[in-house]
Amino acid sequence: MIYYNLKIDYNSTYMKPDELRNLYLNSFKKNSHQIVPSSSMVPENDPTTLFTGSGMQPMMEYLLGAKHPKGTRIVDSQKCFRSQDIEEVGDNRHTTFFEMLGNWSFGDYFKEDQLKWFFEFLTKDVGLDPKKLFITVFRGNDKLEIGKDVESVEIWKKIFATVGIEAKDIDFSEKTGLQNGRIFYYDETKNWWSRAGIPDKMPAGEPGGPDSEVFYDFGADKKIHENSQFKDQVCHVNCDCGRFLEIGNNVFMQFQKQADGSFKELAQKNVDFGGGFERILAVKNNIDDVFQTALFEPIIAFLEKISGKKYLKSDATSGTGKTGAPDRGLAGGADRGSAQGGAEKTKHSFRVIADHMRAAVMLAADGVYPSNKEQGYFARRLVRRSIRYAKMIGIDQLFVADLVPVIVEIYSSSYPDVNKKLVQIQNALAQEENKFAKTIEKGLKELEKYQEMTPPVALDGAIAFRLYETHGFPFELTQEIAQEKGQKISLEEFEKAKKNHADKSRDASSDKFKGGLQDSSVQTTKYHTATHLLHAALRKMLGKHVQQKGSNITVDRLRFDFSHPEALTQDEKIRVQDQINEWIDAALPVKVEHLKKSDALESGAIAFFIEKYPDEVTVYTIGNGDEWISKEFCGGPHVKNTSEIGKIEIFKEKAASAGVRRLYLK
Ligand code: ALA
Repeated sequence: MIYYNLKIDYNSTYMKPDELRNLYLNSFKKNSHQIVPSSSMVPENDPTTLFTGSGMQPMMEYLLGAKHPKGTRIVDSQKCFRSQDIEEVGDNRHTTFFEMLGNWSFGDYFKEDQLKWFFEFLTKDVGLDPKKLFITVFRGNDKLEIGKDVESVEIWKKIFATVGIEAKDIDFSEKTGLQNGRIFYYDETKNWWSRAGIPDKMPAGEPGGPDSEVFYDFGADKKIHENSQFKDQVCHVNCDCGRFLEIGNNVFMQFQKQADGSFKELAQKNVDFGGGFERILAVKNNIDDVFQTALFEPIIAFLEKISGKKYLKSDATSGTGKTGAPDRGLAGGADRGSAQGGAEKTKHSFRVIADHMRAAVMLAADGVYPSNKEQGYFARRLVRRSIRYAKMIGIDQLFVADLVPVIVEIYSSSYPDVNKKLVQIQNALAQEENKFAKTIEKGLKELEKYQEMTPPVALDGAIAFRLYETHGFPFELTQEIAQEKGQKISLEEFEKAKKNHADKSRDASSDKFKGGLQDSSVQTTKYHTATHLLHAALRKMLGKHVQQKGSNITVDRLRFDFSHPEALTQDEKIRVQDQINEWIDAALPVKVEHLKKSDALESGAIAFFIEKYPDEVTVYTIGNGDEWISKEFCGGPHVKNTSEIGKIEIFKEKAASAGVRRLYLK
């Protein structure tokens, strides 16, 4: 079946997605990098986050000093999903799923090589005009005792000089404008990278560092800024008008946050580079909208066909055709806020569906199917939001089963496993579509009930939220129905009801046993796993009467209370300590499983607050297969392998209360 008519002219100068990906991988291979495949978007054994949202997450341990089996120079294209961007999708450049081109130096090369190689990739391999490239660097921050990144500035100046460009550096362009500059300084809200964001937000133990970003300029001549909602503000490279597009981020991962809030140099200086695959593809092909690249065009064409609407049309609602105004497809904020109304709304809907369905397919290929919890919850939202937006452009029929193969085909050669799972993905997503159709039916019936009461109950935020919470019935639909009946529900009312609910559940979950962790930094995570080893060692050496009575972990030490009638002898302490270190040296894997409570207990897992746990529990097992040495109910987080913990020492022992001893380890 032919689902769509492609509009892209795939002539010899059009760079296809697979070509660009290979070009990047080979460009760094040439500089002695080893190519590694993308990790799954579901992080392995990392309960701190649901999805891989950047290329560096799977590389975390190597940035902190563990040896990567392939060496110190790695290159890849990592599949990423940013769930926090779900509501943001709709502009020309943000997508929930994306590929991050990544290259890493694990204590190998640093700024000089990184900046040169990335510039060469962009200008020589991809063939971008160097005049269109603009740079940002870290301004420095006295409080952090980290200086202005003049080193990168000097390197960039030399690099631009090789192509005959004098690169002027400008500070405070966000106040004074571009001033013919090429390199611009920004503070840590723009030019600092860590998993947690700005330095203040980083927990102790977290690595991060200043970064230098590369932007592509779509050109002053297009008057993009002047035509946007930002026209009264100063235009600079980080302004949101859409004239500049960030295409790559060179992170100099060289610091680690300390418990006292200061930053210390890591033992090894690393490079974490992240490039926007979709964005570089757009720029290379002279398009200022990622949704018009070959990664989305087939999806958009399919949606055009079944909706009868056009993605690029100045007035999609009137059906009168183009007005002749060029469609920029730029600047999300400007787009959406504009008075163009119908056409922009239509374009926005196309983008949301294309983004969400692509993400849902790629997540399913990584084993994430729509459900009501954890990762699956997001997969469900993606499909349901797609259906809602499809309705807005007049698609009332079931369409998911037909759209899935279109998306799969885009990735079939670069990700063959997506192709292999086609039928499975198609069934799962179409099933979700069917379920949602039923949800809508149920919600409508329930809404009717309110109307049939005497006197009829006016629809309000609380009702809208209840429908949303129990049936997943979308707020916008309740709002529309209310409107038809001459009633009004504001988003604020709905948000208020939602917040009340969230506050209540937060209070409930803060009571839960969280392993006594104060944060989820790397060091506390190591100590957390060490408490499981300690618990197991005590039970092995002293007997099964030992039960954990509590624990408290900071970045500096772990404290552990357990039932035991008398003080430990020197010999017992040494034996327990040696046992733990032996398990650490044995590099035992740490496995996480979600099990039914009864199955977990049957498997031998220990839990001391049984009634505290829900019917479905998380169990952490340390050891190889059946030869595990520890199995406990626990919410995590934990390290992946005991070897990450490093040597452990018992440095203090005392009584905590009658029959309860307290140990301190570091
Ligand atoms: N880790 C860096 C980022 O995500 C490259 O921007």
